[in-house]
Amino acid sequence: MQDVLVTGGAGYIGSHAVRELDRAGYRPITVDNLSEGHREAVTAGELEVGDLADEDFLTFVFEKYDCAAVMHFASRCYVGESVENPQRYYEENVGNALTLLRVMLRKRVTRFILSSTCATYGQPLEVPISEGHPQDPVNPYGESKFFIERILRQYDRAYGIRFVSLRYFNAAGASLDARIGEAHDPETHLIPRILAVAGGSAGNLKVYGDDYPTEDGTCIRDYIHVVDLAAAHVFGLKWLERDGKSEFFNLGTGCGYSVLQMVKMAEEVTGKSVSFEVRPRREGDPPELIADPSKALDLLGWKARHSDLRTILETSWRWETTRRY
Ligand SMILES: NC(=O)c1ccc[n+]([C@@H]2O[C@H](COP(=O)([O-])OP(=O)(O)OC[C@H]3O[C@@H](n4cnc5c(N)ncnc54)[C@H](O)[C@@H]3O)[C@@H](O)[C@H]2O)c1
Repeated sequence: MQDVLVTGGAGYIGSHAVRELDRAGYRPITVDNLSEGHREAVTAGELEVGDLADEDFLTFVFEKYDCAAVMHFASRCYVGESVENPQRYYEENVGNALTLLRVMLRKRVTRFILSSTCATYGQPLEVPISEGHPQDPVNPYGESKFFIERILRQYDRAYGIRFVSLRYFNAAGASLDARIGEAHDPETHLIPRILAVAGGSAGNLKVYGDDYPTEDGTCIRDYIHVVDLAAAHVFGLKWLERDGKSEFFNLGTGCGYSVLQMVKMAEEVTGKSVSFEVRPRREGDPPELIADPSKALDLLGWKARHSDLRTILETSWRWETTRRY
C-alpha cells in the first residue's frame, strides 16, 4: 500500500481526501497541528501531530513513512484575516509550503497536489472562469496561493517537481454518511451559517448586499461538494502517476446559486425558516464566481457527482444535526 502525505488531513476538506485515498487503496499519512482541525476527523491511515513550520518534524515524518506524493491542504484560509494580518499569510502559507518542498526535494518526493483557490483570479473579467483567465488576486489569502503556484512552476522546471494545482470554488456539504463535515470556529462559510439559523443556534443570517447585478440581487457562487473535491485529488494523483505534466485545474460545477436560492433550498431541506437581514456589500466580493470545470473533465476524467444543491444541503444538515466534533 502506498503512503501519501496529507497536510491538513484533520481539517474539513483534507479529512474527506483522507477517506478517498483510503478507499482508493492508499495509506493516508495526516500531518496536522490541530489548530483548526479535529483528531476525530481523521478516519483512516495515520495521524502525526505537528507543525509544518517545524522542518525537523517534517523530516521525521518523511523518514518514518515512505510517501510517494504529498497533498497539501494545511493553510490559513480566511480572506478577512489575511487583509488584517498579511504577514501571517505570507509566513505561514508561503513559508510553510517552501519548508515542505525543501524536505520533499531532500527526500526525492516529486509529486505534489496543491489546494489552490478561485481567489487567485481576483475580480473575474468574465464568467465562467477558465484556467486561462488572468490571475490578479485582490487579497493576501489569494495572493499567497498564487505565490505557491508560481513557486511550483519554477520548481517543476528546475527540480522536476510535478504538481497538480486544484483551484477550488466554494467547498460545501459533508460526507454522505454524516461522519465527517465542516467544523470551524468561527464559521465564516455561508451554508453552516444558514444552518445555524435554521437550527436555532444563531440569530438572523447576514446577507451582504442585495443590489448586485444578479437576478435576485445577491451574490452567486459555484458550490462544489466536498466529496467531489476530495475525489478530484485522487484523480490528480493518478494523473501524476501516469506521468501527466504539471497542470492547473478549476474544481467547480459550472453552475452558480445565489445566497437567496441557498436560503430557500435550506428552508425546504430543514423544514425550518431562515430569517435574514440585508447588510451593505463587503469590499472585494464579486457578484458572480462560476467555474468552467471542463479541463478537469477532459484531462483527469473528473466531474462533480454530488454537487446538486439539494445533496449539498441535505448532507450538511445531517452533519449539523448529528455531529460529534
Ligand atoms: N473551504 C473552501 O471553500 C476552500 C476554497 C478554496 C480553497 N481552499 C483551500 O483548501 C484547503 C483546506 O481548507 P479547509 O476548509 O479544509 O480548511 P481547514 O482549516 O478546515 O483545514 C486546514 C487544516 O490544516 C491544519 N493546519 C493549518 N496550519 C497548519 C500548520 N502550520 N501545520 C500543520 N497543520 C496546519 C489545520 O489544523 C486544519 O486541520 C486550504 O488550503 C484552503 O486554502 C478551501
